[in-house]
Amino acid sequence: MVFTHGSDCYLYDSKGKRYLDFLGGIAVNALGYSHPRLVRVIQREAKRAVHLSNLFHNPFQGPLAKKLAGWSGLNRIFFTNSGTEGIEGALKLARAYAKKNATPGSRPKTGILALENSFHGRTFGAVSITYPAKYREPFEPLVPGARFVRFNDVADLEKKFDAEIGAIVIETIQGEGGISVVSEDFWNSARELATKHDAALIADEIQCGLGRTGRKFAYQKFSSKPDIVTVAKPLAGGLPLGAVLANEKFAEAFTPGIHGTTFGGGPLICAVALEFLNTIEDEKLLDNVRERGAELKSGLEKLKRRFDFIREVRGEGLILGLDLSIEGAPIVDEALRQGLIINCTHEHILRFLPPFVIRTQQVREFLSALGRVLAKAPRNVWEAKDAKQANDAPRIGETAGARAQAAVR
Ligand SMILES: Cc1ncc(COP(=O)(O)O)c(C=O)c1O
Repeated sequence: MVFTHGSDCYLYDSKGKRYLDFLGGIAVNALGYSHPRLVRVIQREAKRAVHLSNLFHNPFQGPLAKKLAGWSGLNRIFFTNSGTEGIEGALKLARAYAKKNATPGSRPKTGILALENSFHGRTFGAVSITYPAKYREPFEPLVPGARFVRFNDVADLEKKFDAEIGAIVIETIQGEGGISVVSEDFWNSARELATKHDAALIADEIQCGLGRTGRKFAYQKFSSKPDIVTVAKPLAGGLPLGAVLANEKFAEAFTPGIHGTTFGGGPLICAVALEFLNTIEDEKLLDNVRERGAELKSGLEKLKRRFDFIREVRGEGLILGLDLSIEGAPIVDEALRQGLIINCTHEHILRFLPPFVIRTQQVREFLSALGRVLAKAPRNVWEAKDAKQANDAPRIGETAGARAQAAVR
């Protein structure tokens, strides 16, 4: 299948067929396709300087850093070329901090906690803290020290968070892991334990951040802040840009020259990212994400009442998922035939990541088409193929809300 171009929330294939895109380049195309403000800035800056070395300032890096600092409340920023590189930067920052602050004679704080079903990227550090065995095992031995905590399980967190832990990395809403939302209890405990052990609380907001929940960052529904945040995906509207955001306490551990990148934060890409964040503010897109997200979620709840193979509707804003008891792949294929782009994780969780500019009419168009697709779905019950896969699969009821619902049922 070859897609040639897109406009607004639609993509077009090489035969001219139109598709409503509820995947958005996997959470990247948050302003849809060919948004006029981004196109204008790309054209303008392409004629000026696409790249300059990081030995000099450019006119957009500082303002973009300032904007991200204002959004997050974390005032030191390092630009990267991808999400995984942001995770590497965050892990290195936490390690540098732990080394700098090590007390003589104490055990090194080289342990890293991550959650079951996490996905943090493909480079060595990031893949070492990514849970599914299929991503890790072909590349072992990995970066040592990673341990996985059961999702939203405070007792397991308390058991594993000891004095040797230098960082805990949490996706505030797991994306690849199946749209599982971290509970307030779990977050607060992670914050308290990280503070107690002088470890970094790192929020991976690469998929769920920068407006996707209807908040600037998904963690902003909690009362406490992380020390380090990673962002990427939508930041430069589809051009490759990520960032590590950190508070002063941790950021100070990076002295000039110990970490760096050639491409990260060039003038064109920073200008586009600045325009992306300004567009979210000017066009009040966080309101749109909350409102359209609520419409979409209530439509998905209606579909759940209609189809007994839908076990759970999960997520917030415009990061939503359907946990199915049947295989998702045939549904994704049928959706494509019907002109819808969606995706499936863990073989049985449908994931929806529409652009922030989506309108009510398109939410309705999507829900009625999805209803038609689900009505045709073959009832192939999804079953883990082996123990490893069963262990890797997110379990229904992993969110606090779902647990409460299950208890009511
Ligand atoms: C939560 C999360 N972290 C990290 C990554 C890795 O980002 P990238 O693919 O840009 O390296 C992803 C990508 O899907 C992600 O969803």
